Amino acid sequence: MTLQSLTIRRPDDWHVHLRDGEMLKTVAPYTARQFARAIVMPNLVPPITTVEAASSYRDRIIAATGPDFTPLMTCYLTNDVDPDGLARGFAEGMWAAAKLYPAGATTNSASGVTDIRNIYPALERMQEIGMTFCIHGEVTDPDIDVFDREAVFIDRILSPLVDDFPALKMVLEHITTRQAAQFVADAPANVAATITPQHLHLNRNALFKGGLRPHAYCLPVVKREEHRLAVRQAAVSGSPKFFLGTDTAPHSREAKESACGCAGIFNASYALESYVQVFDDEGALDRFEAFASEHGPRFYGLPLNEGTVTLVRAEHQVPETVEGLVPFHAGEMLRWRFVG
Ligand code: NCD
Ligand code: ZN
Repeated sequence: MTLQSLTIRRPDDWHVHLRDGEMLKTVAPYTARQFARAIVMPNLVPPITTVEAASSYRDRIIAATGPDFTPLMTCYLTNDVDPDGLARGFAEGMWAAAKLYPAGATTNSASGVTDIRNIYPALERMQEIGMTFCIHGEVTDPDIDVFDREAVFIDRILSPLVDDFPALKMVLEHITTRQAAQFVADAPANVAATITPQHLHLNRNALFKGGLRPHAYCLPVVKREEHRLAVRQAAVSGSPKFFLGTDTAPHSREAKESACGCAGIFNASYALESYVQVFDDEGALDRFEAFASEHGPRFYGLPLNEGTVTLVRAEHQVPETVEGLVPFHAGEMLRWRFVG
C-alpha cells in the first residue's frame, strides 16, 4: 500500500542563510516553520566573526522566528582568526561551528581565507575541543573550470586536510559531485556532508532550460546528471555521514534577475516537501527521518529534537513568488505537503 502520510521526529536544517534586516524578518519564519534548529551561516556584510556580533544576530533571528526556534551560530573564519577567542566562544556556547569560505568563492566571501595554512592553528584548536569545521569546498582559482571547482578542492585542499586533522569534525557543505559523495563516504567518521534539495533535483541543464535561468543558479553550481544521481544515492543511502542542509540563500528578485545575477536559491518555504519527494522517488521513505532529523545532531553531538512533524501525500502547486521572492520549484507541482 502506498504510504499517505509520514510523521518524523522534528528535523533541523544544517545550513541556512537567514540574512539580516527586513530580509531576515521575511525569510526566517519559513525555516522556523519546518525546522527546530539551524546552522546559521555567517556571511553577512560585515561577516559574523565575533561572539558579540553573533549574540546580537542571534537575538535578531529569535525576534523574527519566536522562541521555539534555535539558531546555531557559526563563526566566519578569516586569515587572522584568533584560536583562543574561537575556543572561548565555543566554550561559552555561542559557536556551534566555524565556517571556511575560501576568499572569493561565493556570496560575501571577500573576507574569507586566502590560504588554508593561515587557519591551521585554529583548526588544531577546534580539533582539540571538538568544534565542527564547516567547509565551502570550492577552489577559487580562475583557471579552474567552475564545474570542476569542488572536485579540485577535494584533491588539493580537503584530502590533505583530512590527513592532517584525523580527529577534526568536518562537514563538506552542499555537495554537488560524484567525487564529493565518494570522498565523504570513504573518509573516516569525522568527515560528513550536507545535501541541498536543489542538488538532488537539478542538473546543469536546468540553468539553460528554454533560456537562462537565474533562479536555478547557486554555488556550488549544479552539475551534470551523473553527479546529481550520485548525490541522490548518498542522500538516501542511510549513511550517517549525509544529512539535510538546505543552503536556502534568498536574494531579491532584482538581484537574481540581473546582468550579473547573485548565486543562491530560496528553498525554505517548501524544503521538506522537496526532499521527501526525492526519498519517495528513490523508494527510501523509511530513511528520510534519519537524514532529516538524526544524522545531523549525532554528528554535531547535540540531542535529537522532541516532537514530530507530518507530511501528507497531496499534490499542490508552488506559487510563482513567496513574499516577492522566487522560491525553489516556483510554478511546479509537488507531491507532498507539510502539515506541521
Ligand atoms: C550563498 C549565499 O547567497 O549566501 N549562495 C549560494 O549560492 N549557495 C552562499 C553559499 O553558500 O555559497
Ligand atoms: Zn550556503
